[in-house]
Amino acid sequence: SADRSYRIASIPGDGIGTEVTAEATNVLGRAAEVYGFDLRWSEFDWSCERYAETGRMMPEDGIDQLAVFDGILLGAVGFPGVPDHVSLWGLLLPVRRAFAQYVNLRPVRLLPGTASALAGRSADELEMVIVRENSEGEYSELGGRHNRGQPGEFVLQESVFTRVGVERIIRYAFDLARTRTGRVCSATKSNGLVHSMPFWDEIFAEIAAEYPDIHSEQMHVDALAARMVQQPDRLDVVVGSNLFGDILSDLAAAVTGGLGMAPSGNINPPGQHPSMFEAVHGSAPDIAGKGIANPVAQVLAGAMMLEHLGEPEAARAVRCAVEKVLADGAVATPDLGGSSTTADLGAAVTAEL
Ligand code: NAI
Ligand code: MG
Repeated sequence: SADRSYRIASIPGDGIGTEVTAEATNVLGRAAEVYGFDLRWSEFDWSCERYAETGRMMPEDGIDQLAVFDGILLGAVGFPGVPDHVSLWGLLLPVRRAFAQYVNLRPVRLLPGTASALAGRSADELEMVIVRENSEGEYSELGGRHNRGQPGEFVLQESVFTRVGVERIIRYAFDLARTRTGRVCSATKSNGLVHSMPFWDEIFAEIAAEYPDIHSEQMHVDALAARMVQQPDRLDVVVGSNLFGDILSDLAAAVTGGLGMAPSGNINPPGQHPSMFEAVHGSAPDIAGKGIANPVAQVLAGAMMLEHLGEPEAARAVRCAVEKVLADGAVATPDLGGSSTTADLGAAVTAEL
């Protein structure tokens, strides 16, 4: 916006979601100060805790409440005691779908001070972005459970692939490739999924023909997973369905610095609705409440939000501050081999800014 004032909805959620969001909020606040724009935050307590009290993850008009914001920063939702399908379908998926956030963008980059599964690689050999379809595919409510408790019990879980949905995500990947190294790799599995994936592949080939300047290839998702570990330098933009993109992006995160470093954006490319930014990781109940979660993923998710709002300089500054702090290595949370707290690492990034 021209007045450089942005309304941000913050949904810290559960577990370490609340801990890392507090740090990201501080870092972004400092970036706003330095780069001269205004972030106006509203916090929502929508979470599993709220579900336990009210029977709902968010109020009935939750989507309407969020619609007026320029961006949404989400921690993580899900906590023991509330089934994961309740937290997912009660908050995360309705937001992604109501706001047509059909791109899930997951950049990964080997950050300094990080022990990679691929030690010895540098950031330029290991930098890619997963473009995950975020509105349909394998994550569908279609299907059912039949003959419950009978010997013949069975379930059906259907996938939904629409021409509109597949075309727009693949086109997004090709457009993104033009701003990067000009390579796109599509995840398929047409040997096993004999209806959906041949359809996906056909549309990929059609769109590839519209982008003769972009190098395109497709791989079965299993082989692609192996390449991600063995030859990550041959990958840049990777586009996949909802399920494939989900799995590949956790793998990509693990190959770089682990889940504590991986940000993501749920993007509505036309800008008709707010986009939502979140770390790839969940609420980590095993370490929640101890103040030791790595806030980097959520801080980098915040940087993606600044970029999306039209503040690329501030976004770059946040990323640089993170890299400086990590390279220096004096302040590191336990997942990075140190003994600093979430707040220490957040404060170090803020100070660097
Ligand atoms: P998780 O990502 O919460 O944790 C997996 C492992 O990574 C744990 O050992 C955890 O300690 C570690 N880890 C994650 N983030 C970390 C960080 N920032 N710093 C240091 N270590 C970190 O995944 P999990 O355990 O499968 O799920 C826990 C809950 O989170 C579930 O209820 C799940 O449904 C929910 N979840 C929510 C997501 C979201 O809101 N977008 C995404 C993934 C899971
Ligand atoms: Mg995931």
